[in-house]
Amino acid sequence: MQTLSIHCSKSYNILIGQGLLDQAGEIISPLCPDSKMCVITDSNVKDLYGGDNNPLYRSLKQAVHKVFEYVFPAGEASKTMTTIEGILDFLAAHHFDRNDVLIALGGGVTGDMTGFAAAIYMRGIRFIQIPTTLLACVDSSIGGKTGVDLPAGKNLAGAFWHPELVVIDPAVFATLTPDLWRDGLAEMIKAGMIADASILQDLAVQTETVAGQTEPFADSLDPIRNLTSLIVKALQVKAAIVEADEREAGQRQLLNFGHTIGHAIEECSNFAISHGHAVAIGSVLAAAGAERLGWSSAGNADLLRDLLLKYGYDLDPGFDAPALANAALSDKKRRGDQITIVYPVRPGNCKLKLLPIDDLQQFIAFGLDYLMP
Ligand SMILES: NC(=O)c1ccc[n+]([C@@H]2O[C@H](COP(=O)([O-])OP(=O)(O)OC[C@H]3O[C@@H](n4cnc5c(N)ncnc54)[C@H](O)[C@@H]3O)[C@@H](O)[C@H]2O)c1
Ligand SMILES: [Zn+2]
Repeated sequence: MQTLSIHCSKSYNILIGQGLLDQAGEIISPLCPDSKMCVITDSNVKDLYGGDNNPLYRSLKQAVHKVFEYVFPAGEASKTMTTIEGILDFLAAHHFDRNDVLIALGGGVTGDMTGFAAAIYMRGIRFIQIPTTLLACVDSSIGGKTGVDLPAGKNLAGAFWHPELVVIDPAVFATLTPDLWRDGLAEMIKAGMIADASILQDLAVQTETVAGQTEPFADSLDPIRNLTSLIVKALQVKAAIVEADEREAGQRQLLNFGHTIGHAIEECSNFAISHGHAVAIGSVLAAAGAERLGWSSAGNADLLRDLLLKYGYDLDPGFDAPALANAALSDKKRRGDQITIVYPVRPGNCKLKLLPIDDLQQFIAFGLDYLMP
């Protein structure tokens, strides 16, 4: 087992190790010996890792005196105030108080909502993250951003609220589909481009599947080598940035690399293109736009494109520059008549630049010229 720590307005540990779900009870109970716990999970994850016959529950029930479970329908469509209200009502009906603890067992949707419910129930109770998607593991489970979507846009309501502990068991990734793998890998590649080029190098040299075939990683991404070490590196990148700028006054915006255009792609596709895929495309477009404007020398867009193609991403955004610019400008990250662009200077180093909103369409068009000539 490896332990990382993050120190911001709150300090907490991130534990990473195969089989940790089986030991969750022993690990968690000393933190909250007399607490009731409520595992919050979605309908898919409940079938895979929830329920009384699974190691997590067995271990929790041995160590903790009362374990409840709240299940909501899987998917981003559930990330709403209505689901939060259901969770809060459930906690109240079961007499949860300030001493009790929530456990987020699932992907980013579960983590964001459980954290938000924990932030507002009785003005704040503790929660623990057990991420089960690669995306949640390397990105959403740390950093303290919690929340829900509103009809007007994604993540528009929320709170900064940190977990007590994050428990990562990479064994759960065995059930991820290739597309869910790619969603997480996109955030890992993002972390590499922002601050740790060795993540990119390590992913670039992987060409074989476990069976020794040299197929690209389109059908199964399960045999990614050095996965735990890659997860640790990606978490270290995020932790360092969050520690330096918890409330996103400046440097934390680097974590939005690929996201300004990525969010626009998600929105234009009516969320048919998933977050990670959209971010992957957005990162190539941002790198290519920056190269065309002379902000950086050539090579970063090629590196990202080649890496993503190797891992089986479809890089066609399917929308033109006016549509994407229009969607990007309705994003909450717009600041008046300028928008912050994150672009790579070189692998492992990204910078922020304010672009006048009138120039955004051209910037995206430059990226599209490169990606879809
Ligand atoms: N808080 C943050 O800092 C932050 C950062 C990035 C993303 N996010 C949020 O995270 C969400 C996306 O995360 P996500 O992709 O994990 O979404 P998700 O939670 O909806 O999970 C995606 C799908 O994977 C399924 N799943 C989960 N674990 C599985 C497993 N082990 N095996 C098989 N299937 C599994 C889920 O049931 C779901 O259908 C978005 O809402 C996004 O806004 C938050
Ligand atoms: Zn993201």
